[in-house]
Amino acid sequence: MTVTAQAGDLSGTALYTSQVWAWGELSHAHLFASPEAKRVFDTTNAVLAAARVFHRKLPPLRHALLHRHAMIDHLMHTSGYRHVIELAAGFSRRGAAATSDPRVRYTELDLPPIVERKRDLLQRTDEGRAVLARPGLRLVEGDVETVALEPFVHSGEPVFVIAEGLLMYLTADARRRLFTKVRQLAAIAGGLRFVFDLTPTCEEPEPGLVGRALEAAMKRSTGGRGCERDAPTRETIMTALAEAGFDSVEALVSSDLAHLWNLPQPHRRTHVVLFVAQASSRTTPPSSPGRDEG
Ligand SMILES: C[S@@+](CC[C@H](N)C(=O)[O-])C[C@H]1O[C@@H](n2cnc3c(N)ncnc32)[C@H](O)[C@@H]1O
Repeated sequence: MTVTAQAGDLSGTALYTSQVWAWGELSHAHLFASPEAKRVFDTTNAVLAAARVFHRKLPPLRHALLHRHAMIDHLMHTSGYRHVIELAAGFSRRGAAATSDPRVRYTELDLPPIVERKRDLLQRTDEGRAVLARPGLRLVEGDVETVALEPFVHSGEPVFVIAEGLLMYLTADARRRLFTKVRQLAAIAGGLRFVFDLTPTCEEPEPGLVGRALEAAMKRSTGGRGCERDAPTRETIMTALAEAGFDSVEALVSSDLAHLWNLPQPHRRTHVVLFVAQASSRTTPPSSPGRDEG
């Protein structure tokens, strides 16, 4: 089975990122490498290289994504949490890598065609089949907006929730609904840490003419779904998390941490903004979302 971008889906972006993990030589990335991912990666990089001739400030996309992925790995490993839910996991190799430790329980969620394709990719090799057979790894088909997450949480076992490369495609309303939904899991788990990336609009580079052409090309390759751009500042995002009932929120930036955390290719200057929100079972989340943050 091959994954082709359908109206509104983001499979093209998931293919691109899977090839970034392989290009960055991250562990287990080879299990998800494919010719179609390589094609998407090469084509996008060619467009980016052309755009950079005219617009040298355009950020190096693959380096930013590599830093993003490695930062989340770092946060997960240093958290000590052994129970992870990765929303919109795409072709992430993180679940395969993390469940090398048999004490880790890892649930990945994505839309059915992506999960089906991911299973197919793992089925290709003995190593992949062994990963697929691990009791600690569960690949779940579902829509983050509608699927119930409670069945994937274990009572009294703190859970680490990841949403990488997803929030920029959600409207402010959808984002707030997701914050509330994730926050509610803390009551069962007894504690929760939620990590996601989202660059506030005011921190994005001005796209310019060539940049806008690139964005239009990327939009076509993802079936017409583009970035929502309605998270103006870090404060708007942090306020929305607080309103959803998170106890504490921190924003982390890749350029501050690349050397300190020994990220791959740390000399590459990137601007990835991660949010880390913490919730305990003690505080009660609001039953309905507050005002619109956007
Ligand atoms: C940019 S990719 C990121 C994939 C992966 N997290 C990574 O960083 O490599 C976005 C992913 O979000 C998934 N996605 C988009 N909308 C979704 C939804 N409503 N429910 C579940 N997954 C969704 C897409 O299928 C795709 O795999």
